[in-house]
Amino acid sequence: MAEKLAIHGGNPLRIRPFPDWPIFGEEEEDTLVRALRSGKWGRQAGSEVAAFEREFAEYHRAKHGIAVVNGTVALRLALMAADIAAGDEVIVPPYTFMATASAVLETNAVPVFADLDLDSFNIDPAAIEAAITPRTRAIIVVHLGGLPVDLDAISDIARRRGLILIEDAAHAHGAEYRGRRVGAIGDLGTFSFQSSKNLTCGEGGIILANNEELAERCRSIHNCGRLPGRAWYEHFLLGGNYRLSEFQGAVLNAQWRRFDVQATARETNGKYLSQRLARIPGIVPQYRGPECTRHAYHLFAFRLLAEEFGMSRERLLEALAAEGVPCSFGYPLPLYRQPLFLDRTFGAYGGDAVSRPLPDYRRENCPNCETICTSQGVWLEHRLLLGTREDMDDIADALEKIHASRAVAVADR
Ligand SMILES: Cc1ncc(COP(=O)(O)O)c(C=O)c1O
Repeated sequence: MAEKLAIHGGNPLRIRPFPDWPIFGEEEEDTLVRALRSGKWGRQAGSEVAAFEREFAEYHRAKHGIAVVNGTVALRLALMAADIAAGDEVIVPPYTFMATASAVLETNAVPVFADLDLDSFNIDPAAIEAAITPRTRAIIVVHLGGLPVDLDAISDIARRRGLILIEDAAHAHGAEYRGRRVGAIGDLGTFSFQSSKNLTCGEGGIILANNEELAERCRSIHNCGRLPGRAWYEHFLLGGNYRLSEFQGAVLNAQWRRFDVQATARETNGKYLSQRLARIPGIVPQYRGPECTRHAYHLFAFRLLAEEFGMSRERLLEALAAEGVPCSFGYPLPLYRQPLFLDRTFGAYGGDAVSRPLPDYRRENCPNCETICTSQGVWLEHRLLLGTREDMDDIADALEKIHASRAVAVADR
């Protein structure tokens, strides 16, 4: 006889909480006090941000790192540095945080959505190829949840078609594709250090680049259009003050000391959890091919095939939370179904309104993204993977328990 589910008044499988996020302690206090006492609180005078930029870039094997105020601005500056302009088309996935597309709108360019591969949750290279027009200038890929996109195929498309490739690696600190760290493989890579991210200082971001000229443009734009070696009051490019403060740099330097151990825990636990969940009918973990040599597991994503599992996604999420495993359905809508796109509330940013008005996004349809958003996607946060193997067993056991009791759970709705 199946065990009584917690949503039916049974005992929850797990009572202990999972690890909290962020994790911090004396190290962060020490570096913050160090920055405070230095009296150098802005990045130009201080050394915290500069030291972090060097370490983060080196770790990802990028020649340059430019820290900025957040991941949204990192994307915007990457597009500006690449000279993306009014009327240009930029291919983006529809399954991502709004910034991936809004940064394109803010350069007056046109976001063009390309559907996902259902198994990996990542943008499908064939859909990218099909979305290219003579106006396409760039592709932004998102390594969803920390799983690298198909970089071989997409880099090849970018090279053949002469397109800029920007990696939105907001979920993918330290993720590897065939042994190379993502964010430093395309022309430019952007990261976020916002509170929920695998490396955080509350708010922050960084741009990585190997190309000298692009890096110099990013650095200038993030510093009011100034150029190194030139006077403070000389401005050469349209830019702004997008610099990170020394306090944020100090927190990042302390968090950085913890990063590799945490990344290894996520990788080990994520792999193990994936193997266990793959054995449960109707649960399909995000597909990871051998070219992914390290997943960042910012999110542990899986698809629920409701018929096979025997329960709807909404009911599963309730049942799982009741068993003590916090979870969510992730992005609820493809980006093009957000009111911003449906209502065209783009403000001053309307593309090139005369020769190339923005398309009618109400006609957009990316079926795989729709399926994941509206019925199949489930996410667990990375903090759940920072514990032990027993924690992973609890997650898998909870799903097995729910699966074993599914007939009762369905009958009782
Ligand atoms: C995929 C993706 N891109 C960009 C961003 C923007 O980063 P930020 O919140 O630091 O502006 C986020 C943050 O949630 C994200 O998840």
